[in-house]
Amino acid sequence: MTKTIIPGIRYIGVDDLALDLFEGQYAVPEGMAYNSYIIEDEKTAVLDTADATAGEAWKENLLEALAGKAPDYLVAHHVEPDHAGLIVWALGQWPTLTLVTSAKAVQLLGQFHEGVDFASRARVVKEGDELVLGGRTLRFFAAPMVHWPEVLVSFETAGKVLFSADAFGKFGALSKCGYFGEEDTDWACEARRYYFNICGKYGMPVQTLLRKVAPLSPAVICPLHGPILRKDLSQYLDLYRTWSSYGVETEGVFVAYASMHGGTAAAALKLAEILREKGCPKVATADLCRDDMAEAVEDAFRYGKMVLAAPTYDGGLFTPAANFLHLLSAKAWQQKRVGLIENGSWAPASGRIMKEAFAAMKGITVIEPAVTLLSTLKSTDLPALEALADALLA
Ligand code: FEO
Repeated sequence: MTKTIIPGIRYIGVDDLALDLFEGQYAVPEGMAYNSYIIEDEKTAVLDTADATAGEAWKENLLEALAGKAPDYLVAHHVEPDHAGLIVWALGQWPTLTLVTSAKAVQLLGQFHEGVDFASRARVVKEGDELVLGGRTLRFFAAPMVHWPEVLVSFETAGKVLFSADAFGKFGALSKCGYFGEEDTDWACEARRYYFNICGKYGMPVQTLLRKVAPLSPAVICPLHGPILRKDLSQYLDLYRTWSSYGVETEGVFVAYASMHGGTAAAALKLAEILREKGCPKVATADLCRDDMAEAVEDAFRYGKMVLAAPTYDGGLFTPAANFLHLLSAKAWQQKRVGLIENGSWAPASGRIMKEAFAAMKGITVIEPAVTLLSTLKSTDLPALEALADALLA
């Protein structure tokens, strides 16, 4: 299926509803979209391709849009395989097709496709370069580490259309969430999970990109995943400013817990209840043993305060909590206040280990003291939970 975005610019992307894990690790219950676009002017430009697994559907869309014409340019903003899976096919299909991309992308494509000579087919572009298509012109901006080093975004100056690569993308097939942002009833939910798990580490590069593109006042944002955004764009830009600066999106507390026999979970859920009773504006919880870990990472970034509750295991930290801390560290989680609930039946050590892990992260303030449980939650532990709740709400 193709969709007109504005006259002369069309969506030719594809949904993948069979995909279980994006990047081999993120659950995508609503599937995934690989967005691709075509600009029809005096010259015809195809913007990005799709994952090879969705290749047949993408070729069908492209050929329908071309209606027998040969495209002049294939612009590759980002050459991660979810967008570059059909570049080799397209270059083979049209011998006069010019690949327009960054120098780094040419190198990376060569690493993925042994024996293919991309350099001889490429017009290498960098920040400030333009590709004139007729009435429409693409101006390129470098966007390194949003989310790979080779990434370019481009701005179509006549229609003020920003082709934003992975930025402003989200998990989910467009047939499920809508082709345009105004059809998407909860864009932020899966956009936030996508952003923090894919780009969370790269706040500074995202800030740099925002400083380049926001003054252009785009009228339409065309990302490589998720709906095309063309209404109330300031809401998306504002969320990206908050997310990339590791700011607080929602006032409240996120309580994450991992529990072996239920004692730690009981304490964490009791704390959540106390926080709600004390008027905390929002309390979110996650069972790190069962809930989606990517969603837990998302919530850790969303709120300004987090409680981590975990037992001691083999003299160390219970594995699901240790895995969660590893992910937070890998995604450069920072600038938060943290409360701790530790548990142990004979030698509690999880509090110390969690504290050491947070000390290695940037701008994390750990609230003292940690609540220490011995095996189960008891009535004598309630004053400590009350005190932790008070400290979190102070
Ligand atoms: Fe959608 Fe970084 O690839």
